[in-house]
Amino acid sequence: MVGFDLNPVYELIIDDLVNHKYAISDHFFSDEEVRILRNHLLLKQEQENFKKAAIGKLFNEQVIKEVRGDFILWMEEEKADEVEQLFFAKINDLIAYLNRTCYLGICESEFHYAIYPEGTFYQRHLDVFQNDNRRTLSLVFYLNDENWQADYGGELALFLEGDNGQQSELKIQPLAGRMALFDSKTIEHEVKKVKQQRYSITGWLKTR
Ligand code: OGA
Ligand code: MN
Repeated sequence: MVGFDLNPVYELIIDDLVNHKYAISDHFFSDEEVRILRNHLLLKQEQENFKKAAIGKLFNEQVIKEVRGDFILWMEEEKADEVEQLFFAKINDLIAYLNRTCYLGICESEFHYAIYPEGTFYQRHLDVFQNDNRRTLSLVFYLNDENWQADYGGELALFLEGDNGQQSELKIQPLAGRMALFDSKTIEHEVKKVKQQRYSITGWLKTR
C-alpha cells in the first residue's frame, strides 16, 4: 500500500474547506513561533519599506485610502532568512498535503506581511483580480500578541451564503497563532476597523 500519515490538523482544515469553503485553524503557529515571526515583521518594518497597499494589479493599481489602510511588504521565498524559512517550511508542507489529498494543483504561492495601523480597515472585497484569477485559497496568519482583546476590532468578516441562500457574516478575531483560510474566488470578506495596530501575514495559493 502506498500511503502517508494522516495529519489530523490538516484533515480538519480540509473538511471545513470542502464543507464550508473556509477554515480556521487555531495555534497553527505556536506562541513561540508567533513571537519570532512578529519580531521579524517589526524588524522588517524598521529595515525595509512597507508600502501603502494598493488595489488591483499593474495598470489597474490604485491607492484608494477609503478602501484599505494597511501597509504591506512582500516576502521573497528565494531570499528567505532563517525565520522566514521556518514559515515557508510549514506552508510548503501544508501545500504538499493539499495537493496530495485534494488534487488542488497548487503550483505557486505568494505572501506578504501586513500592518494595519490604528483606525484602518479593508472594505468588503474578493481576492481575485479581473485580469488574473489564479488565486485559489487565501490564507491569513495572525501575529498579534497573546493579549489581543475582543474590543480591539480588526476582525476578519466573511460574508457567507447558507444553503437557503441567506447571507450571514462570520467575524473572526485576529488571535495570535490563528490561521484563516478561505476560497479566494467566492468568499467576499473585509477587515473591520482596528483600534490597535494589527499584524499578520497574508498569502495566496495559486493554480496555473
Ligand atoms: C487581504 C485580506 C484579511 C485579514 O489582505 O486581502 O483580506 O484578515 N486580509 O487580514
Ligand atoms: Mn482579502
